[in-house]
Amino acid sequence: MTSNLLKSIIEKIQTNLNGRGILACSGGTDSSVLAVASKMAAGNNITAFFVDTGLIREGEKKRVKEFFEKFEINYKIIDSSDLFLGNLKGVTDPELKRKLIGDTFIKVFEKEAINLNAEYLLQGTIAPDWIESGGKNRDVIKSHHNVGGLPEHMHLKLIEPMRDLYKDDVRELSAELGLDVSQQPFPGPGLAVRIIGEITKERVEVLKKVTSLVEEAIENGIKSGNRPWQYFAVLLPVKTTGVHGDKRSYGDTVAIRAIDSTDAMTGTFHRFDWDFLEELSTKITNEVSTVNRVVLDITDKPPATIEWE
Ligand code: XMP
Repeated sequence: MTSNLLKSIIEKIQTNLNGRGILACSGGTDSSVLAVASKMAAGNNITAFFVDTGLIREGEKKRVKEFFEKFEINYKIIDSSDLFLGNLKGVTDPELKRKLIGDTFIKVFEKEAINLNAEYLLQGTIAPDWIESGGKNRDVIKSHHNVGGLPEHMHLKLIEPMRDLYKDDVRELSAELGLDVSQQPFPGPGLAVRIIGEITKERVEVLKKVTSLVEEAIENGIKSGNRPWQYFAVLLPVKTTGVHGDKRSYGDTVAIRAIDSTDAMTGTFHRFDWDFLEELSTKITNEVSTVNRVVLDITDKPPATIEWE
């Protein structure tokens, strides 16, 4: 039986969509739930887009493609990595990064919408996105790419049927729709908000490798009930001295961030087992030659946000 929550999302889509729409799907839980609900609401009048920004995780494109196919969602995958990385060149300010990413997404979507004769853009924006982007008269904590990152003038009409939901509501919907509920959240701006300082192709490659190692270690090494709610690595703009064999090295520093939360509005840092951390740290420095130091983030939210930028 369809829950009232799912029914209300389907209804919102059907009421607001008058023609064709495109849907921004990052492969994260929020936009994946929206993609399935939209298929139920409007069938092939909606095309879901996954944009390879060059800032996605290893294997992400394949995973999202399989998801679209499993749920028979009308989709298109676009490679815009040169465009995104080009626009971000030389940018180090976190808010500017987020705004440029939001703006680039919209430009990509507007172009695709013209090709499809679509007037609407569906986004899986949820309450924490707009609250932290300065909604409800609050201070801007960070401009979520799908809210504060949107340009002032855009031609597409926005439909955001999940605006009042929180992460735990989305998890319930996700279970109801048969999506992978063990999947951790991943931010729309991707690895950009986890690369502190300038984003270059080389730095993205380093973070991609470390991210895979962190995810693999946690997903294979910690039973699902005890896994952190969200876990990832952050590449710092700090180089430090190390020793590899009997040679001096001067390399990258990565931080491990793992948080226990239910709704992403607050959270506590995950208490890892020390032996697990030692193994993970050794694996990272052995397998990613440019990294010679691994540090652990032991900050709750608040005062820190989950993502570093
Ligand atoms: P913060 O860093 O604000 O993160 O404590 C809260 C949750 O939101 C995710 N996050 C984002 N998700 N677009 C998204 O779709 C964004 O711009 C964005 N920024 C943060 C973050 O991964 C965490 O789960």
